[in-house]
Amino acid sequence: MPLYPPGPEQGFFDGLRSPLRHDPLGFMSRAAHDYGDIVCLRFFNLRTYLLFHPDQIEDVIVNNARKFIKGRILRANRHLLGNGLLTSEGDFWLRQRRMMQPAFHRTRIANYASTMTDCATRLLHSWQPGQQIDLHDAMMRLTLQIVGKTLFHADVERDAPQVGENLQVLLEYTMDFRRLLMTPRWLPTRRNRQAKRAVRDLTQIIDRIIQQRRDSNDDAGDLLSLLIHAQDEDGSRMTTQQLRDEALTLFLAGHETTASTLSWTWMLLAQNPRVEQKLHAELSSVLNGRTPTLDDLPRLPYTSHVITESMRLYPPAWAMARLAIEDHSLARYPVPKGTGIAAVTWIVHRDPRWYDNPEEFLPERWQSDLLKKIPRFAYFPFGYGPRQCIGNSFALMEAQLVLATIAQQFRFTPLPNHPVIPLPSLTLRPRHGFHVQTEQRSSPPV
Ligand code: HEM
Repeated sequence: MPLYPPGPEQGFFDGLRSPLRHDPLGFMSRAAHDYGDIVCLRFFNLRTYLLFHPDQIEDVIVNNARKFIKGRILRANRHLLGNGLLTSEGDFWLRQRRMMQPAFHRTRIANYASTMTDCATRLLHSWQPGQQIDLHDAMMRLTLQIVGKTLFHADVERDAPQVGENLQVLLEYTMDFRRLLMTPRWLPTRRNRQAKRAVRDLTQIIDRIIQQRRDSNDDAGDLLSLLIHAQDEDGSRMTTQQLRDEALTLFLAGHETTASTLSWTWMLLAQNPRVEQKLHAELSSVLNGRTPTLDDLPRLPYTSHVITESMRLYPPAWAMARLAIEDHSLARYPVPKGTGIAAVTWIVHRDPRWYDNPEEFLPERWQSDLLKKIPRFAYFPFGYGPRQCIGNSFALMEAQLVLATIAQQFRFTPLPNHPVIPLPSLTLRPRHGFHVQTEQRSSPPV
């Protein structure tokens, strides 16, 4: 079997202590540095191409999207995650996407702005100056509350701790590649049983919420109402099973991603006082202590650049995976049906070919239309093409409003002896959380 230069074939899983498993980001950086833009990995008969060049990523994700489906890990977890937007394929996916798209339209999500700032305000009122907290944990609870309130209105509040815990079990379980390969899912191991229990609990909670909403026939103005009333072209609506799968998917996809974006942003601000001061100056001059609204966002360009730059350095979706369902050829290399593809956002976003001083946190780089000067897939935190994130406007609005609300009142000093280490699981999150001491900047508005 010929090797595919410039990348050699590496043992994908050369023992359980493989560098890919223990330090995936370091492994990918070395692979890109040593072998170039395409690297082929092999584990027994499974081949995966790592892609580090925007043009080749665009070729797979957009130009030849019909030849690829979602990657092995997501597919292997469909029995847990259900057949929601993230995992479904083909005509079924298209029908669901068309039905759900209106729920994420800018005009519709504009209604959620005040929910986002209310939740953030409530959180910061719970903090005392000088208090030591795990800020990542706080961001996880906040974004779960926001996605719960906007999806399910107030219904989810009392279930929030249980929902959060169960989602966490699922997130960790679905990303355990070793378990996926080594442990059949019917084996009653502790983790298999835990994951099944998490799905059962979440299903019960979501079903109860759907049933209550159907019984009351209310249009609560939230996503769930929209999904219940959404109609296909032939007038049919979603079944309870479909509603449940989509609801679980939105909880999973829309919760940790935004929380991680916020956590990395707080860390970068703490490490870069110049940027932090500039952010504070913009917030003071535009908002002067009041809670931001959606209409304020266009007048807060630096705040927006801070988020854009934070997602460049720490993209929550740090890699995007696909599986070839037809033979393809990529930059002269054959990609036979069954080959895996990983488009590695983490590497592309730090490539000096597209970014000056790529390791530096420089929100200013976005001031002069950088996006128009670099290849489309040199910056793709939400993906592009047919499977692009449906929640991208929702997430950007949420991240900017939460940042503007909290940064006016508090800044955070990282605690010594709590190193912040990126953990590339389903999303890129801080492995041991982000432990900080809070510092009140001004009195909360009355
Ligand atoms: C900063 C926050 C977020 C990031 C970085 C992010 C990133 C992504 C990426 C990269 C994809 C595409 C993956 C691919 O092509 O394989 C995706 C898909 C998706 N995201 Fe997001 N996301 C975020 C927030 C959200 C939110 C808030 C929601 C919903 C409330 C959401 C719901 C979804 C769904 C349902 C999909 C699947 C879309 C489809 O295949 O049709 N995401 N996300």
